[in-house]
Amino acid sequence: MSELGNKLDDLAQRFSTSVGDAADERALDAARVAFLGRSGEITLLRRSIGQLPADERPTAGKTINDVVERLEATLDAAKVRLQMRSFDAALSERIDVTFPAIQPCLGTIHPVRRIIESVCDFFQRRGFAVVLGPEIEPDYYNFDALNIPSDHPAREGFDSFFITDSLLLRPHTSPMQIRTMQTHRPPIAMVAPGKCYRRDALDARHLFQFHQVEGLLVAPGIHFGHLKWTLAQMCRELFGSEQQVRFRPSFFPFTEPSAEVDTTCPKCKGHGSCSMCGGSGWIELGGAGMVHPNVLREVGYDPQVLSGWAFGFGVERLGLTRYEIDDIRRFVDSDADFLHQLR
Ligand code: FA5
Repeated sequence: MSELGNKLDDLAQRFSTSVGDAADERALDAARVAFLGRSGEITLLRRSIGQLPADERPTAGKTINDVVERLEATLDAAKVRLQMRSFDAALSERIDVTFPAIQPCLGTIHPVRRIIESVCDFFQRRGFAVVLGPEIEPDYYNFDALNIPSDHPAREGFDSFFITDSLLLRPHTSPMQIRTMQTHRPPIAMVAPGKCYRRDALDARHLFQFHQVEGLLVAPGIHFGHLKWTLAQMCRELFGSEQQVRFRPSFFPFTEPSAEVDTTCPKCKGHGSCSMCGGSGWIELGGAGMVHPNVLREVGYDPQVLSGWAFGFGVERLGLTRYEIDDIRRFVDSDADFLHQLR
């Protein structure tokens, strides 16, 4: 009897080690088959009871049954433990529908493009066409046809990135005045947005690649009042009626009279107390004026019959004012978090 007891103790110990080591249901079942299965160790022991003296058999049978009961309980507990473990794993992978969603990083329209669209929209509603032209232009369109001969000092600020001796990245969108008038009969009403290039040093108001939007209206009887009203209306639509706009006498070889259009500085709000506006309280948006008679003659129009106005505004400068930004470089920094705020 004690020999049977020793065997059962040893068997129970090995069984509990196998069950404890079982990493999954399959290993658990293998342990069950090895000990409790039809040819399992405990089954063989039970069969051996027949060899014991008759009076010892009932006690031996009961002892074995008790051990079998214990082993089955250990097995059941191990099964539950494994099931709980896989349930926990599934639980941790479960999708929590109440968890705040991760925002997808969506692309959006760049604020400079938004300004261009707003300006074009303003003019299209008034019957203007939107025209686009080349960024590489010959001297002729950039200067000569615009009443800037090769020895004119006004070229100084414009001639920048040459590709050949007479071909350069356009420093302004004004060549589109010539291209449009040469290919269309008056009346002309167009706006021409696009990139421009100059060898300007970078600062809060200057980029070497920026955008302008050109405007041109040519028809009989057009005067400076039309220009002033139109640009004032455009600024009001872009910035709201609080923002002040002023016309300051200026000079461009291709307009006469000429003006610069300024708006109150978005940083110091016109107080003239900041470096952005150089203490003047004003930021220059662009140039404008009545189309010079020489330009009209150049494209075959008769200045006695036709007159017109033109303007060229810096799009990023319009953006500075509209979004109240204090540095033009913010538009090209590619800081998505910053740009996403500008609608
Ligand atoms: C011109 O470019 C003229 N073509 C404008 C014009 C058109 C006058 C039609 C009359 C009739 P100006 O050099 O001032 O003018 O430039 C116009 C505007 O472009 C500036 O007021 C400014 O808003 C913008 N601009 C010019 N240079 C830069 C620069 N480096 N970076 C950012 N914006 C600029």
